[in-house]
Amino acid sequence: MSGIRPTGNLHLGNYFGALRNFVKLQREAECFFFIADYHSLTTHNDPSLLHGNVKNVLAEYLAAGIDPDAATIYVQSDVPQVAELSLLLGMHAYVGELERTASFKDKIRKNPSNVNAGLLTYPVLMAADILIHRATHVPVGKDQEQHLELTRVFARRFNNMYGVEFFPESQPYNFGAELVKIPGLDGTGKMGKSEGNGIYLIDSDDAIRKKVMRAVTDSGPTAPDSPVSEPVENIFTIMKAVSAPDTIQFFREKYASCEIRYGDLKKQLAEDIIKTVAPIRERIEDIRSDDAYLRKVTALGAEKARESAMKTVAAVREIMGIKPF
Ligand code: TRP
Repeated sequence: MSGIRPTGNLHLGNYFGALRNFVKLQREAECFFFIADYHSLTTHNDPSLLHGNVKNVLAEYLAAGIDPDAATIYVQSDVPQVAELSLLLGMHAYVGELERTASFKDKIRKNPSNVNAGLLTYPVLMAADILIHRATHVPVGKDQEQHLELTRVFARRFNNMYGVEFFPESQPYNFGAELVKIPGLDGTGKMGKSEGNGIYLIDSDDAIRKKVMRAVTDSGPTAPDSPVSEPVENIFTIMKAVSAPDTIQFFREKYASCEIRYGDLKKQLAEDIIKTVAPIRERIEDIRSDDAYLRKVTALGAEKARESAMKTVAAVREIMGIKPF
């Protein structure tokens, strides 16, 4: 199971780092993918934008190949059992451990005028997302590992407290050799939503060309077989994801013999990125404008997710002593 906050469009890094692997995984395991709209309320609370943002991510997931018949794809707020489980798990989460969470400290430092309780209990809600399906494997980036660690703490504490073996210890899952990390175009670091260094799945062909042509490089090799600088290596790394092996070899050799022209390298990279992105962008546009389809997909996803969630909440209520008359 994995989730994403609807706070921006998905980029090439999301595609190669996560989505493409989700698409494979959905045939091999029982998968839940959801859009964490409650979580986005901790920082983004413009009601006029929320629905459109959820719609974007939903269309992007589907366009990338998540199949609503194979996996369960849903919107968090369509499954109210998540909120109930979050409330129940919150009874066993200590304020101290929540205050020590890196993401909380980071958020309050950046935004001291909005230290809301939702920010503090963010990890509890995330644990509820995961434990509601008793998920064992959670593909997430490094920045989410502390949240997963807390999820395991809450699960273990719950099991110990009530003498049950109910919740599994959810592990972060990475795709091993298949994990492709896409760097940004600004010379260093990874492609990120907030860094402004990314190529988005909705970018037009021209936007892609412009961004790639502006990518940071260096002044070029001056001696044969010189080491490749980080910005240029980053370009080759992106090429590895989108270009044919002989294309890469061609430019590697040109680099080694100091004949490389970065303009040519970038032109080639832009065209190869377009080959990957353009068909996805076209599907995003089609899906976004098909409200009937989106309604059908979210209704189906909500139904499947609720079925799994209801079982968990019923068991947790009973374990905690909540009983019907
Ligand atoms: N916190 C995650 C992020 O910011 C999003 C998220 C919410 C999530 N709930 C989750 C990820 C459950 C995996 C599982 O990226």
